[in-house]
Amino acid sequence: YEPSLPVSEKSNPLTGDIDRASASTIVRMLQACDGQMFEEDAGVGYQRLFSKEVVETMVEVAKKVELILKDPQDSLVVLSGCGTSGRIAFLIASCFNKRLKDISQSLVFSYIIAGGDRALFSSHEAPEDDGRLGMLMLKEACEGKKRVLFFGISCGLSAPFVAGQLDFCLQHPEVYIPVLIGFNPAHQARNEPIAGCTFTFHSVMQRMLELEQSQKAFIVSPAVGPEAISGSSRMKGGSATMILLEVILSAAQAAAFTRAPVTEKVILQSMLAYKSTVDVTYSHTERISTLVEAAGKSLRCSGRVCYLGWGSLAVLGLIDASECNPTFGADYEDVRGFIAGGYAELNNNEGPLTSLGPDFSISHEDFLRLILPLLTDRDTVLLLFTRSEVLGEDVQMARRVRQKSVFVQNLCSSTLQISWPSPLTEGSVQMLSLCQQWELSTKLLLNAVSTGAHVLKGKVYQNHMVDVQVTNTKLFRRAARLLQKLSGHPKLQCEEALLKAIYQSEQLTSDITSSDVGTHTLVAKHRTRVVPLALILLLTNCSLKEAESRLQQQPIVREVVVLCLS
Ligand code: F6P
Repeated sequence: YEPSLPVSEKSNPLTGDIDRASASTIVRMLQACDGQMFEEDAGVGYQRLFSKEVVETMVEVAKKVELILKDPQDSLVVLSGCGTSGRIAFLIASCFNKRLKDISQSLVFSYIIAGGDRALFSSHEAPEDDGRLGMLMLKEACEGKKRVLFFGISCGLSAPFVAGQLDFCLQHPEVYIPVLIGFNPAHQARNEPIAGCTFTFHSVMQRMLELEQSQKAFIVSPAVGPEAISGSSRMKGGSATMILLEVILSAAQAAAFTRAPVTEKVILQSMLAYKSTVDVTYSHTERISTLVEAAGKSLRCSGRVCYLGWGSLAVLGLIDASECNPTFGADYEDVRGFIAGGYAELNNNEGPLTSLGPDFSISHEDFLRLILPLLTDRDTVLLLFTRSEVLGEDVQMARRVRQKSVFVQNLCSSTLQISWPSPLTEGSVQMLSLCQQWELSTKLLLNAVSTGAHVLKGKVYQNHMVDVQVTNTKLFRRAARLLQKLSGHPKLQCEEALLKAIYQSEQLTSDITSSDVGTHTLVAKHRTRVVPLALILLLTNCSLKEAESRLQQQPIVREVVVLCLS
């Protein structure tokens, strides 16, 4: 089935045996995968990051942002997406608003994430399926605005939430100009009906393609190659989203406030600077491997991994941690992020969310109060900071963590320090700030740590997430496809096994089989390990009870899969 899959869902030949690799080989595989982001069109006919059409569109979009920055009255630039795409939208809107504040300009950037702010730090995948919700949230965010440039981000060109927003923009061209950011060729956009809507992602995109000529809509969707872990768009998808948006917005700001016009050269040079950011980061492969090894060890023996960060690097820690649950079926305690200053530092739309539960306790004080007393030598703590930002606070925090255990002491003394070449300038204009380089670098590092650690824990089979949460239609379809691939059974049988695992029922009643996928995913939200369970059912033809007991006996998912397959 692979050829029919969009690029973002394919399995990457570079990582086919990542599940059997050592920490250092895992890091080298991730390096090779990330390197694919900057490859030229290899004759497959897909647009890539450096393709002329992509660069030209980025120039035009940056000019639209520039207009709003110069005349911000009644105007807004909205960035929106689901899961990681929404989290990156938040990060970028916050960073660019801060920059505007620093030069006493009106703040024009705003973000929307499917599921609201709670989805910034925890997994809420169901709202991704709601096209109408997307439209309503956009409408509310733009109340009273006369001019809106809307960036809808969906790495897989697939999220109904974003399709609903793009459709709304197309219906109101007097106010909205939609820009779609994704990483598949246009013809691979998802064409599945959306509940309660008359359009699909694909049909909305077709309408946008028609409007591109007249600059009433823009599509920036270069392919960046399949993800290292199939479908895990938090990785390359998230990084490439950061690159595209930061390049566009930086060029627009430079043009608006330093009279450095947006040109193709400026855009190309900024993207090249990101390429060298990736290279500089991975030149520390050995050190990164040490961190992956340590984090893997922690997860393998039921310890935890904590990211203690300052400023935007801490936000990247929070983002990385939140993605482990849907991707690897991890518990929220497994990988957690904390930020100095807590919600006051984040300045998110909905303010403090601490009342929502313990997983929303994200300040360093929360770490000191709730986690530090429980730390043992099984845990790994990473401190994320930049020299200029922290002024000794990090040292104090490291000391307190060190005092707690010998192992943590060892780890803290393992420092990964990256020195950066001077920022790229064009004339007198700085094209890419140091801060932007640090952020991408930190994202790559943390993705490597959390992905590598879960691979070492046995949460990946070949390069597939075998313990993925089945909490929206895209994830349901992905899980069913994976079952087909691994079991060799037909689609219908795989979906039935998945339903048995979700509903924990040997017999599928007509109530179950007549429900739609959306209903199945609501039930699946309260279940764990449905994919491994379904796979055992398919491979061994045993009862649900037996399958459950097999999983209990061998909690390492990869081992169960290997055993069943053999
Ligand atoms: O549905 C879960 C998920 O795959 C997240 O992991 C991802 O960040 C999000 O969907 C968004 O996907 P996309 O950017 O392709 O719409």
